[in-house]
Amino acid sequence: MSKRWPDNRVCALLGIEHPIIQGGMIHNSGADLAAAVSNAGGLGLLGSGGMRPDELRLEVRRARSLTDKPFGVNLPLLYSHAPENLQVALEEGVRILFTSAGSPRKVIGPLKEAGCVSVHVVAHPDLARKCEAAGCDAVVCEGFEAGGHNGREELTTMVLTPQCVGAVRIPVLTAGGIATGAQMAAALALGAEGVQIGSRFAATVEGAGHPDFKRAVVEAGPADTQLVLKPHVPVRLLRNAFRDRIMRMEAAGATAEELAAELGTGRARRGMHDGDLTEGELEIGQVAGLIDDILPVADLMPRLLAEYDEAVSRL
Ligand SMILES: Cc1cc2nc3c(=O)[nH]c(=O)nc-3n(C[C@H](O)[C@H](O)[C@H](O)COP(=O)(O)O)c2cc1C
Repeated sequence: MSKRWPDNRVCALLGIEHPIIQGGMIHNSGADLAAAVSNAGGLGLLGSGGMRPDELRLEVRRARSLTDKPFGVNLPLLYSHAPENLQVALEEGVRILFTSAGSPRKVIGPLKEAGCVSVHVVAHPDLARKCEAAGCDAVVCEGFEAGGHNGREELTTMVLTPQCVGAVRIPVLTAGGIATGAQMAAALALGAEGVQIGSRFAATVEGAGHPDFKRAVVEAGPADTQLVLKPHVPVRLLRNAFRDRIMRMEAAGATAEELAAELGTGRARRGMHDGDLTEGELEIGQVAGLIDDILPVADLMPRLLAEYDEAVSRL
């Protein structure tokens, strides 16, 4: 365990050196990214949301060939293939599961039977309490700055973190708006015992997104993301023709069904995997405005740690 964080419960729980989790990201976090983060002392997560069960099986095996450190799987529970993906993860020996977008009660039984560490992503302190009662080992509280699907309540990381820390005794990790070591220091100052970082890791050499998507993240300005599709499934998206059309529909009072029809299927793949910057869904956090380069993880992690040290000594 690093001297920076003695007795850190997240490091102890997950068997990692630094309490930095690379969040599961649909179409962005495959074996290359997860293994690179784990090799650098954090915890990499395979984002199973966009993977069919056979693809997930291959990615788990590939990640294992790239690292001998712990890594995990993110399982968004809203997808119809989530039960099969859970089965595959367990069969392949994965013992760290970060679930999201649903109730952890649905899966906690099989996870505990298999001896897994179970962490759930929440956007409200009440859900953090329910996770603790259900038997989760930790929660990630994710503020509304975050990239990807998001809580309807719009609680920001700064406000949500201390509320979740006050609500439960299990460790709380913070996500949403963290791309620098100074922001990590802020999260730990609020009582979090670790951070989950998404957008910053999407813009890395190992990130599985299309190169044009990564470039768009680097070019994004401070106010280029917006939470949209709130009546359907709230998601934070980068500005483009598709998102502008959705926002016009919302302003005109479109129903959840109309928005779902306009979204259609496969938009996220089209945007982030295929690189259609005009009509695809480009999920990224507010913090994109702070991301100026696409780095290898082996350079990014030491930078985050140096920035963390600098911020702490400045205080
Ligand atoms: C491109 C992208 C895709 C994401 N996909 C998922 C996902 O499949 N499952 C999930 O639980 N969270 C997903 N997230 C959320 C991240 O795991 C993480 O919690 C979030 O990015 C943290 O906020 P940040 O982007 O400000 O770092 C995604 C985020 C991004 C940026």
